[in-house]
Amino acid sequence: MSGPRAVLVGPMGAGKTTVAALLADAWGVTARDTDQDVEATEGRSVSDIFVESGEARFRELEAAAVALALTEHDGVLALGGGAVLDPGTRERLAGHRVVFLRVGLADAVKRVGLGTSRPLLVGGVRSRIKALLDERAPVYESVATLVVDTDGRTPQQVADEILEAL
Ligand code: S3P
Repeated sequence: MSGPRAVLVGPMGAGKTTVAALLADAWGVTARDTDQDVEATEGRSVSDIFVESGEARFRELEAAAVALALTEHDGVLALGGGAVLDPGTRERLAGHRVVFLRVGLADAVKRVGLGTSRPLLVGGVRSRIKALLDERAPVYESVATLVVDTDGRTPQQVADEILEAL
């Protein structure tokens, strides 16, 4: 199947954007990020979309951005952490090389930072990340063709493992 060389999924704090850039460098392709696609189309930040239009609207925009990127992007694609919640997106991922960057609570909190502006974490970074990790881990696993653990590892180590595996 044509499309991205690799699609990275996983929760906030898994390092998707950073690892995508490293993989793209190694392969000599470009990295794309669906959060940035949505922001560019809308001309406003993800946080503003959540606040002004609500999460449901963001999810629609995100699903459209993922569908477009899967057909037109042939580099590395990083999906927003919640993109796999959409059933249509999960179906579209079938047949692609999907890498789940797995992360535990402690490392996710460390990487996201306590002062994050990510809308889903406002009001309690630790407890909210825990809830997201618990709820979504099975979903990430169900779409993944490769699972890579990121805890205690640098983005370069994670990228190297993916480069060896793909
Ligand atoms: C979200 C993850 C974010 C962004 C939005 C919602 C989520 O992307 O799409 O804040 O539901 O997990 P990152 O995973 O790139 O931070």
